[in-house]
Amino acid sequence: MHKRFSLIGTGRIGWALSGLLTDLGWTIDRVDDVSDHQLKAYQKHFSSCFTPKPTPSQPTCLLICIRDDSFHELIRDLQQKPEWKTPHIIHTSGFHQAEILSPLRDVFQSEIHSFHPMISVIETNTDQGKKLLKKAWWALSGDNPSWMQNMASAWGLQTFLLPDDKKDFYHASAVMTANLIIGILRGAEATASLAGISPEDYEKIFLPLVDSVIDHIHQSGLHKALGGPIVRKDYHLLEREKAALKKAGLTDEYAMYDLLSRYLIQKMSIN
Ligand SMILES: NC(=O)c1ccc[n+]([C@@H]2O[C@H](COP(=O)([O-])OP(=O)(O)OC[C@H]3O[C@@H](n4cnc5c(N)ncnc54)[C@H](OP(=O)(O)O)[C@@H]3O)[C@@H](O)[C@H]2O)c1
Repeated sequence: MHKRFSLIGTGRIGWALSGLLTDLGWTIDRVDDVSDHQLKAYQKHFSSCFTPKPTPSQPTCLLICIRDDSFHELIRDLQQKPEWKTPHIIHTSGFHQAEILSPLRDVFQSEIHSFHPMISVIETNTDQGKKLLKKAWWALSGDNPSWMQNMASAWGLQTFLLPDDKKDFYHASAVMTANLIIGILRGAEATASLAGISPEDYEKIFLPLVDSVIDHIHQSGLHKALGGPIVRKDYHLLEREKAALKKAGLTDEYAMYDLLSRYLIQKMSIN
């Protein structure tokens, strides 16, 4: 196997994945990004990791690590660029199916895959990025499950196979877990401000509470991690607090509190 890859998209995931692979002795054949500034920074950082010329054969794989809304445009452009031809194409989107790459399967005769790390990377920082990618579980979908599993295992990744046509549900769950939870915390922050607690103090005072809940999930599991008035069935308290939010004009915060407290009461009655 040629331990060589090409990369399109040198942002957070492209950068972190490159760090992981070059640590394992892989070299970079070809790289591209629409952002000139980002591309130059990448080329400088990984300058010692490029494949020495000449390169008679194709690299093992092409990694596509671009924003989800740029896929159609890139796939259209790539079909006119045979220099990117490779036996395996991998994208890292959680949202798109591997199948979105099917025009390239036809034009390049490549196998197409999706490798999605279930983790949040918010900086272009090789060391932090590599650590997060190793901590993540990766969802694999695409043409060749045994190739994907062997490759991911050679990269030291924890993986599971996901049906490609179920990615809408998979990614919606990821958005709830990683993003909507921030919406709840922002709502809590706005609510705390009516108690005279500043955003800075909110983080200081309430984050230990968040940490304790996450610890409970680690220790006891999600279904046993709930404490507070819902578990105690103190519905009178919930109603009083909802009324206070409504009266104060916190309409969205009221809606979040109302919906999620009713949802949890319903879930509690089931398990
Ligand atoms: N970050 C995460 O936590 C995370 C986790 C799991 C999976 N992912 C997935 O990984 C992929 C990359 O995410 P990211 O966070 O690394 O994105 P990112 O930091 O925004 O980096 C994407 C890079 O690709 C460039 N780009 C956009 N369109 C392009 C095109 N047509 N050709 C070449 N370069 C192009 C962008 O340039 P511009 O900025 O100028 O557009 C940017 O430099 C996405 O599919 C994302 O869903 C991300």
